[in-house]
Amino acid sequence: MLDDSGRFDEFSLACGEGGAPRLFLDFSRQRARRETLRLLAGFADARRLEAWRSALFDGEIVNLSEARPALHTDARAPEPRDPILSLERKRVSEFAARFRSGQWPGAQGRPLARVVNIGIGGSDLGVRLLCSALAAAEAPRVDFVSEMDGVELERVLSGAVPEETLFVVCSKSFTTTETLANAYAARHWLVSRLGQDAPARHFAGVSSNAGAMSGWGIRPEMQFRIPEGVGGRYSVWSAAGLSAWLALGSGQMGDFLVGAAALDRHFLIAPLARNLPVLMALFALWNQSLLGSSAHLLLPYDTRLGMLPAYLQQLELESLGKSADAQGRPLSVEGVAALLGTTGSSAQHSIMQWAQQAARPVTADFIAARDAAGAYPNMRAESLRQMMAQAEALARGLPSSAMAPDPLATQKALPGGRSSSVLLLETLDARNLGALLALYEHKVFAQAVLLGINPFDQWGVEHAKRLVADRTSQPPLASVLGD
Ligand code: F6P
Repeated sequence: MLDDSGRFDEFSLACGEGGAPRLFLDFSRQRARRETLRLLAGFADARRLEAWRSALFDGEIVNLSEARPALHTDARAPEPRDPILSLERKRVSEFAARFRSGQWPGAQGRPLARVVNIGIGGSDLGVRLLCSALAAAEAPRVDFVSEMDGVELERVLSGAVPEETLFVVCSKSFTTTETLANAYAARHWLVSRLGQDAPARHFAGVSSNAGAMSGWGIRPEMQFRIPEGVGGRYSVWSAAGLSAWLALGSGQMGDFLVGAAALDRHFLIAPLARNLPVLMALFALWNQSLLGSSAHLLLPYDTRLGMLPAYLQQLELESLGKSADAQGRPLSVEGVAALLGTTGSSAQHSIMQWAQQAARPVTADFIAARDAAGAYPNMRAESLRQMMAQAEALARGLPSSAMAPDPLATQKALPGGRSSSVLLLETLDARNLGALLALYEHKVFAQAVLLGINPFDQWGVEHAKRLVADRTSQPPLASVLGD
């Protein structure tokens, strides 16, 4: 198959004509023939994918168990239909402009110049990814606190200047124990240095729960709202992206939204068989649910995308890691394989041994920017050559016969036949990063439709939260903070 002439041209796809973000998908190493693709596309038809796609974009109830729409595409539309999304984008942009121009004085009158984002999951991973991928050296510093154990908080506060620090408490529910524990401890730290009145100027909040923000003491002018219809792991486009607006500014964040909206248009209008998210969903279903790959690797060959695997783990596994469909019927296949990932060169010295020689097949997405940006273009070119070598080895393997009469031929053989896709961005900028994240969101949505899963709820994480609440004799926060 791999040596069929013309396979690369037929099993690859560029998207982004007419100035839209430029993404290129090489799926020539997928274990699929033209007939496979035809049958899989036919299955997508039978699952009424196009009707579900229209329902998503039309703001219909697609999250059946919570009776909600999913509004992340509206959150990045040029003019959001949802009034909260429309108003809050303007407010976030204005607040960020004032902060970045030094016009947001703190309690002591000094401009706030540094951010601590307190949040977890979808209230943390997206802004971490954006800041680590796009923030210039001179951008306002943003630190992130999500873990409950206090170590991150202690490290961040030990280096923070209270007079200049803005805390962003990001929590859609505003009930997440980890986030509130960190927020209480941060407020305690600030009050002990600047007095009782300081939090009013130094704490912003992002939530769907305005009452809880007010009850916690966040002033209305520093509250930014998310509508219930935006899921946490789909929320970086909304006010949940506040810390990234503060670090990057409205220029880059505007491009980020524009890039995602361009991918939305591609998803909406491209025929299923020439549709990037649909193709990725079809191959994921084929490999992970039908051919039984034991795991799927997310391998960004770019240090700036080091946070991408963690971001995509939440997006994919909280959306697809289920065993019942949206009607409550047990799934007859696995919804999603285990997702692992790290930056590519490191992967070659940790998980790729397993991927190349494990008994059960492992598949992979290799992700990189095609441009040779930066001070070391030759090193980037070598990094991409190594990425392609890994993809080739997964696909073609190394038969023991090729090494005879080496007595270690069997130990050295690679089974091959392991699918991968190579996803290339023209360059890593805000537009293309927005398109990349939107691409994976729609891939997950399409995969959920194929499986009949509701990708927008996460009942599996609610039970453990109740176990903690039930077992703790005192309210969790008092036990954490003592006083
Ligand atoms: O992990 C469960 C979850 O609800 C995620 O979906 C969400 O992103 C995270 O917890 C944080 O929730 P919140 O933004 O409400 O604090």
